[in-house]
This record gives sequence, C-alpha cells and structure tokens, in this order.
Amino acid sequence: MKKEQKLHEKARAALRHIHNGDSGRELISDKTLRKLDCDGKNIDLEIELGYPAKTQIESFRQRIRSELESLPGLGKTNVAIESRVTTHRVQQGAKQLAGVKNVIAIASGKGGVGKSTMAVNLALALADEGARVGLLDADIYGHSIPQMLGIAGRQATSEDGRLMEPLAVYGIETMSIGFFMEMDMPMVWRSPMVVQTLDQLLFGTHWHDLDYLLIDLPSGTGEVQLSLLQKAPICGALMVTTPQDIALADVKKGFRLLEKNGIALLGIVENMSIHVCPNCGYAEHIFGSGGGEQISEELDVDCLGWLPLDIQIRQFIDNGQPTLISAPDSRIADIYRSVARKMTARLALRPEEMDESLPAFIPTQEVAASPIAA
Ligand SMILES: Nc1ncnc2c1ncn2[C@@H]1O[C@H](COP(=O)(O)OP(=O)(O)O)[C@@H](O)[C@H]1O
Ligand SMILES: [Mg+2]
Repeated sequence: MKKEQKLHEKARAALRHIHNGDSGRELISDKTLRKLDCDGKNIDLEIELGYPAKTQIESFRQRIRSELESLPGLGKTNVAIESRVTTHRVQQGAKQLAGVKNVIAIASGKGGVGKSTMAVNLALALADEGARVGLLDADIYGHSIPQMLGIAGRQATSEDGRLMEPLAVYGIETMSIGFFMEMDMPMVWRSPMVVQTLDQLLFGTHWHDLDYLLIDLPSGTGEVQLSLLQKAPICGALMVTTPQDIALADVKKGFRLLEKNGIALLGIVENMSIHVCPNCGYAEHIFGSGGGEQISEELDVDCLGWLPLDIQIRQFIDNGQPTLISAPDSRIADIYRSVARKMTARLALRPEEMDESLPAFIPTQEVAASPIAA
C-alpha cells in the first residue's frame, strides 16, 4: 500500500473517534468531509458543517488536531472548518418564502411555558453562531416579541408600498403585529381576520437572505395554528415544555398536530426545569423532574436541553435585553447556544430541498389593503 493511502486510512480511523455533541453523530462523516488530502506526511482536511457553530469551530479544530497528532510520523496538518446552511424540505403544498432558506416553528402545547422567551434567545443564539436570522411573532393576540427585544412602540415601514420591512435589532430581523399599532390597543379581531393578518406578516415581509426564520407560534392547537402549519413552509419544529404533567399532555397534542401536517419535530426543550436558589445554590425541581426525558422517549425525539427557572432570564427579557445580549458569557447563554446548534444540526440531517431556485412568492394583495395597514 502506498504511503499516502496508508496515512489517509489512519487519519480517517483516528477522526472517527470524534463525536459531535450538536448533531449526536460523528464530527467527520461522509456528509461533512469535503477534503482529506495526504501527501505521505502532511494532511489537508476540510469539513463543512450544515449548521452555524462559530463558537465551537476552534474547539473542533483542536480536537481534530490532537487526534491527528497522535499519528506517528505526521508532518503538518491543515484543518479548515466551515458552515454552509442549505435549504431543507418543507411540508407538501406550502409555498416557499422569498429571502428565507429555512423556517423553524417554535411551538408549545399551552401558553406561559416560556416559548417566546425561548424563541427570542434562540434567534439571538443562532446569530451568535454566525447565522442570518429572522424572528416572526405569530402570536397575534399576545404578541410579546417587540417588548422582549426592546423595540416596543416602533413602527414597521415599507420601501416599495408592497412589502413591509422587518425591524433590525441585535443583529437579527423581526416582524410582529405589534409594529402596526399603537401600544395598548385592544385586539378584537376575529379568527378569519387573524389568519389573513398572519399571511400578510409571513408573506408580505421583505426578509433579507435569512438562513433561518424562527416563528414564535401562538400556543394551542386551534384554527390559527392549523392555518400557519399548513401555509408557512416549515422544515422543522421545536417544542417547548415545562416538566409539569399538564404541559406534557399538551405537548403530545401539539406533536400530533405537527405530525398530521407533515412537519418534523427536531426536538423538545425543557424550560423552567430546575430552580437554583441565588443565595444558597440549592437546586429544586419546582415543576417536577424528568418530564422532558419521559416525553422524548414517548415521542422518540431528542430533548435538546434544559433551561433553569432563573430570575435573570425573566428580568433581562422584561427589560428588552435578553440573556444573550445582557449576559452573553453566562452559563445560561451557553445553554441557549447549545440548544440552537442542536436544533439546526438536527435540521441539517434532514432531506434537502432539491430545487433551490424556486420562484419567489409575490403577494397578490397590496399591503395597503391588508388588515395590518387598516
Ligand atoms: N427559564 C425561565 N426562568 C424564569 N422565567 C422565565 C423563564 N422562561 C420564561 N420566563 C418568564 O415566564 C413568563 C412567560 O414567558 P413567555 O416567554 O412569555 O411564555 P409563552 O410565550 O410560552 O407564553 C415571562 O414573564 C418570562 O419572562
Ligand atoms: Mg408567547
């Protein structure tokens, strides 16, 4: 056997040991390995991840290097790691969204589990990891994203009188019904109107070249949710739950609704799972324990992380400066980034959209004539 070939095989065998905690797979697989060149002594390696992982790339590189350096007689190693987000397949019948590669729905069975807080922090976490991110507030009655991002009271505008410009904040783009009205205005719209408004928010927004658009879905399993799950081109969903039994029963209901509409569940995340006393450090399972694990076993999906019940999460988000902005180096910010990477790494394993050059959707209705602008 030639020397180059031998080193090549040894290198591959060494690299197989490296586990990627984000995808739950080997870091170097047929899907991620772009190049492995050996000239008998030196190795030139290129890896392409299908999800954003800026904060991890240096540690991946170190781990690869240390595996390779254990090979005897090795010369120089060059390790290049890149992320490239591709477009993944959506449920049948849904129209593609112009300017967006992947839409991910953040769902929950019931309200008050911390879904919007999660959606905001995950969107910011993905931006931290190097992705271009948008966040759509689909909760027409209980919109909270503008407050959580500290831009309540700002108004959306249109440059061409047709599409609305999303608001740019903390490195992401966002759209909410809240940008179309005076604050404290009562929401008295009936369902058909809500569905139409959501269509306008989704398809009538000028998203700019996003890798991911997260949708903060309204909670529950009613008509509005159903309409969104059928019309929005969703390539995967994340389910937020608390460890309480009732929330878990609702998760199953929400899961069935996703399943029925052909939307894959990328994972679940347990929020408010443990309370750590800020004074003494004592950790307590206020809402019960092990619920996330139980449900992930029952539904056969991964639990992607556990967020503690933490007063700072609430204080930061109430002040319009979420954890990822106020305390980006905290342990909790790390958990959000880890969940964000796991979620998108799971998506990267799913089938890709064959034709990336799908026609852009042109809204037929003038924004000026929509219920939003009314
Ligand atoms: N992990 C957490 N620890 C403490 N408070 C939280 C946490 N997650 C969310 N909250 C708070 O709980 C309340 C409900 O959260 P929210 O994100 O609005 O829930 P939902 O969108 O599911 O209705 C908010 O006041 C929020 O600040
Ligand atoms: Mg909410």
